Amino acid sequence: MNFHLRLWRQEGPSAKGGFEEIEARDIPAEASFLEMLDIVNNRLIKEGREPVAFESDCREGICGTCSMVINGIPQGPGRGAACQVYMRTFRDGDSITVEPFRVAAFPLVKDLVVNRSAYDRIIQSGGFITEHTGGAPDAAAMLIGKREADRAMDAAACIGCGACAAACPNSSAMLFVGAKVTHLSLLPQGQPERSGRALNMVRAMDEEGFGNCSNYYACEAVCPANISASVIATLNREFVAAVIKVEVAN
Ligand code: SF4
Ligand code: FES
Repeated sequence: MNFHLRLWRQEGPSAKGGFEEIEARDIPAEASFLEMLDIVNNRLIKEGREPVAFESDCREGICGTCSMVINGIPQGPGRGAACQVYMRTFRDGDSITVEPFRVAAFPLVKDLVVNRSAYDRIIQSGGFITEHTGGAPDAAAMLIGKREADRAMDAAACIGCGACAAACPNSSAMLFVGAKVTHLSLLPQGQPERSGRALNMVRAMDEEGFGNCSNYYACEAVCPANISASVIATLNREFVAAVIKVEVAN
């Protein structure tokens, strides 16, 4: 298959960026999007040109590293990460536009690579959980309802990719933060630090410059982990409950 790529090229954070037209020729239909970029890069290197900078690690939808916008969609067409997009999804001869995530809190590093450590700092602000050390307890000793276990597992599926903020017109990170807060608020292990976690993660999210949710649901539409926007409602409830708890205590 052959494709006409419009790829965002930018030497560095303060350099002027722009689209470069690159032909991707003789691409196997079964190649993933990242494998197509590998083939393009090998040819660019052979021609003595600068390869396109992009990130990847697991290449199977687990690590959340391969952040990019394909034809205007963060993570590309379909419901997986960009590494799970296959070239057979496109038609032979298609023009494909590839850009980095456009989020002020994710500053551009080079070409398609952005710095998403703002999400890491939000996670760090959530802190640790209190847990007894020692031998692993019997799995049946800590009873958790099926509904709570399912909802906690669903929320824990977030891979921290950043597509939610990239899709949102407000650059909101609330789907991501909602997933993390919901996950631990449902489990016994998450109870001791429950209030502080919600307060600190929302504060960190604001300090990083992410916007607020105004119910576009664009985040839910692109999330490769199928995180439901209902976690945002849970985040709001957890935050309000934590604020009330602090005020009552004072
Ligand atoms: S909520 Fe979804 S889109 Fe947002 S960081 Fe997690 S996996 Fe990515
Ligand atoms: S490279 Fe790990 S999710 Fe795409």
